[in-house]
Amino acid sequence: MTRHKGFSTRAIHSGQDPEPVTGAIMPPVFLTSTYVQEELGKHKGYEYSRVSNPTRTALEENVAALEEGVHGMAFGSGTAAVDAIFHLLKPGDHVVLSRSVYGGTYRIARMVWEKFGLQFDFVDSTDLGILERAIRPETRMLFLETPANPTMEITDLAGSARIAREHGLYSVVDNTFATPALQQPLRFGLTMVVHSLTKYLNGHSDMLGGVVITNDDGIAERLRFFQKAVGGILSPFDAWLCLRGTKTLAVRMKQHCINAMAVAEWLTRHPRVQQVYYPGLPDHPRHGLAKEQMSGFGGMISFELGSLEAAAGFLRGIRLCALAESLGGVETIVTHPASMTHAAIPPSLRKEIGVTDGLVRISVGLEDVEDLCADLEAALDPL
Ligand SMILES: Cc1ncc(COP(=O)(O)O)c(C=O)c1O
Repeated sequence: MTRHKGFSTRAIHSGQDPEPVTGAIMPPVFLTSTYVQEELGKHKGYEYSRVSNPTRTALEENVAALEEGVHGMAFGSGTAAVDAIFHLLKPGDHVVLSRSVYGGTYRIARMVWEKFGLQFDFVDSTDLGILERAIRPETRMLFLETPANPTMEITDLAGSARIAREHGLYSVVDNTFATPALQQPLRFGLTMVVHSLTKYLNGHSDMLGGVVITNDDGIAERLRFFQKAVGGILSPFDAWLCLRGTKTLAVRMKQHCINAMAVAEWLTRHPRVQQVYYPGLPDHPRHGLAKEQMSGFGGMISFELGSLEAAAGFLRGIRLCALAESLGGVETIVTHPASMTHAAIPPSLRKEIGVTDGLVRISVGLEDVEDLCADLEAALDPL
């Protein structure tokens, strides 16, 4: 596979050499379950599409190249990718996670894996002292998310990698919010990156997928075994859709950052908005760290309206912005974390991580900022 230097060049070309038979510049969607073998044991590298499929391989190589990683393994959703990572552990093993991980990661940990003997602690990973003190003799993994939902908590990647190395732990970063266009955790020495491809990497809200990227040959081999043995793989058509998305990732993320900064600044000036959470604002508690380890602050903002009544009123008032689950598409999506993305998290932890009933999250899309602010204003003013 050719490794190109520039990020945008990798996004457009990595894993996607012209198709050898016809020269097609776009990778075909290989809609096939199986592959004809010449004779017993002699095939062209593909045997059965649960194990591997050329369109999925193209996406896996493409996203691995974006993260500056060697191996990519794609799954049917981000959650399936997280699940595959927990399969690396055995009963009795302990995992320390960022307290603000995606609610679905909390759900799979507590409601699926705990009954098979894995143990989980959710801590404030923005404080490396707290993170390290949560490590026990049976700890095997740090599972971090940064920036993390919904108050955009930032965890120190270099510091976490050092702690993981010193304690001999796997270290995982859910890089869904930042994307490799803004942050590449493997470069800091972490062992795995996981993504919901559903979000920015695809970018067009038309498929679900997940991927794990690593430089570790042994981990990759085990994750590929889980693809084959468990079968939660990404379909060729969804891999192809996502490949269309990754081609424009760099330009989309640039504009998401510009739009989000403008919307965040606008929100800070609105009298009904009590607080704005965006790593790009100088009053964000980890603004300096975000500036060091990210090349942009991303497209996700949360803001506090003070009550469920105010949040509900605002959500009734929006017209251009869509009230929906998910994020990372070209269109602006607004979410109510307490009842949507973080509903699986118990109220006590929700309170600790700042998920109040009055909190609203915006995935700022690529519409014109003036139109977005006009829509927000029309929904905020009557409150
Ligand atoms: C940060 C993060 N990680 C993982 C996931 C799970 O991904 P999926 O919905 O593709 O299963 C999500 C979904 O919202 C997410 O926001």
